Amino acid sequence: MTQDLPQPGAVKAYSAPDAADVRELLLDWCGALPEDADDAVAALAALDADAVEGADRRYQSIVADMGGTQWIPWPRSPEAHPLLGLFPVLAAVPDMLAFHRAHGVDEDLSRKVLADLGEKLRLNRRLHGHAALDVAPWFTRHLRGSLYQLGRLQFGVEGPGPKPFAGMHIRGEGGPLTREAVRESVEWAMEFFPAAFPDRYAGPDDLEFVCESWLLDPRLREWLPERSNIPGFGALFDLQGEGDPAGNRSDLWRFVFGRTEDTPVEDLPGDNTLQRSVMAGIKAGVTWQNRRGRLNLHRLAL
Ligand SMILES: CC(C)(COP(=O)(O)OP(=O)(O)OC[C@H]1O[C@@H](n2cnc3c(N)ncnc32)[C@H](O)[C@@H]1OP(=O)(O)O)[C@@H](O)C(=O)NCCC(=O)NCCS
Repeated sequence: MTQDLPQPGAVKAYSAPDAADVRELLLDWCGALPEDADDAVAALAALDADAVEGADRRYQSIVADMGGTQWIPWPRSPEAHPLLGLFPVLAAVPDMLAFHRAHGVDEDLSRKVLADLGEKLRLNRRLHGHAALDVAPWFTRHLRGSLYQLGRLQFGVEGPGPKPFAGMHIRGEGGPLTREAVRESVEWAMEFFPAAFPDRYAGPDDLEFVCESWLLDPRLREWLPERSNIPGFGALFDLQGEGDPAGNRSDLWRFVFGRTEDTPVEDLPGDNTLQRSVMAGIKAGVTWQNRRGRLNLHRLAL
């Protein structure tokens, strides 16, 4: 798949971050752990010429499509360089900042969206036991200015056509998914997107909010206790289509159990109510599914 990416330097010279840039961006902008910053600096020094070319080509794919509304399917990082995708992402921070400035987006929001990078490095360390960024392509939206953290939720400008929908995403860090937090975020998005992208959205009512997640499986409400926020979040959506009958093992293992997909069921942790409830479902033969839904604004009184 690397062959599908633009050639090195095709759009703009790749200004590879140096060790000081990596440290400053990760610690000051992304809120990364010091050990992730240290390992990233070591990984930078270990890149060979092929890996640097791969980083350059990934960077070119970002700057070739600023504002783009699709994820760019970068190839997996080679095993020897599990942090390869991090460097083009960091190299594109100045491009993202320029895009944000051109759309009147405050630097505070630029910092907030980058905090996801620190989080995903922490998650990768937990999942894999070492520094890695297995979801580097996820950040191709952040860096091209088509994803924003507005309060508890992230919103991506997604889908083809002149009026993309607002895809809703939920970071693991950021606290409980209460109705109030969701309402505040959605209200913010209804103001933010027409202001930042007036050519796309005429006003707050012009936005359609969509979410696709394990959180929307309606059967969760049969297994989770009443005090749990997750079923309430799912109930805000009008579901569309059916779930995949094969289920969603990779997302559940990652987001609920904090384990890689190859972890056997018997080795999954049961440290809290969610994990125990999802496990009880698995043992009873439930194939948990990702579902897609359209946010019903009336249910948020919006
Ligand atoms: C979405 C999320 C913020 C909801 O958290 P919440 O509002 O606390 O959810 P609930 O009120 O339903 O939690 C009920 C219980 O499950 C636990 N829990 C919730 N999400 C958990 C998670 N991802 N991993 C482990 N435990 C979790 C809570 O601690 C609580 O347990 P307790 O009663 O034993 O203390 C949380 O699940 C999360 O961080 N998920 C990871 C990110 C994610 O899945 N994003 C969507 C990707 S498609």
